[in-house]
Amino acid sequence: MSTILSKEFKMRTGRILILRSAQAKDASQIIKLMKSVIAEGPLTLAEPDEYSATVSSESKKILRFKSAPGKIYLVAEVGNDIAGFLSFDNWDTRRTAHTGLFSVFLKKQWRGMGIGRILVQGMIDWGKANPLNRKISLYVFSTNKNAIALYKKLGFKIEGKFLNDMIINGKYVHSVAMCIFTKKP
Ligand SMILES: CC(C)(COP(=O)(O)OP(=O)(O)OC[C@H]1O[C@@H](n2cnc3c(N)ncnc32)[C@H](O)[C@@H]1OP(=O)(O)O)[C@@H](O)C(=O)NCCC(=O)NCCS
Repeated sequence: MSTILSKEFKMRTGRILILRSAQAKDASQIIKLMKSVIAEGPLTLAEPDEYSATVSSESKKILRFKSAPGKIYLVAEVGNDIAGFLSFDNWDTRRTAHTGLFSVFLKKQWRGMGIGRILVQGMIDWGKANPLNRKISLYVFSTNKNAIALYKKLGFKIEGKFLNDMIINGKYVHSVAMCIFTKKP
């Protein structure tokens, strides 16, 4: 079982944000959110016709992450709106279960208000307290300067780059690998 206790944050605007573990009922909002981010263009691996997740597959994923000791799935909620979500998926074998990859996505209208920072810090705090987790990794497009700035501010270090890993709008983009250790090696 891997979940966090819900936590409230007061945003700069005065509105209350709830950071909590995702529930199966969030799947439909998460799918809509993800489709809107994909439709923006250059931010995701999948293009619109390549995204195959459904409400049913996402709710199964949420339940799977809840019952796995080394995974976490978080949402940031303002009122009844899921402003953003983060999922961290650890690897499968005993030799690699202490680490894994995460991704985080916010609806466009909720960006630049500190919500990404709350989600990523929430995952780091979970990783520090979780008995299995020791390292959290991510891949980010070299063009995604905002995301790279956020990860660096929270203590992530660049491990390396996968050169010309993607072609976005006809141009090569590198994939930047970053990580943070949640326990001392
Ligand atoms: C990347 C993302 C998760 C960041 O979340 P966010 O809520 O917008 O970021 P925050 O408001 O918490 O900002 C945290 C830091 O990120 C950087 N940042 C975020 N938005 C920025 C912007 N528009 N311009 C410059 N820096 C920015 C800043 O360093 C900021 O620190 P500061 O608050 O001290 O200035 C969010 O913008 C998003 O979902 N983007 C689209 C999807 C995506 O790119 N996901 C990441 C894939 S790897």
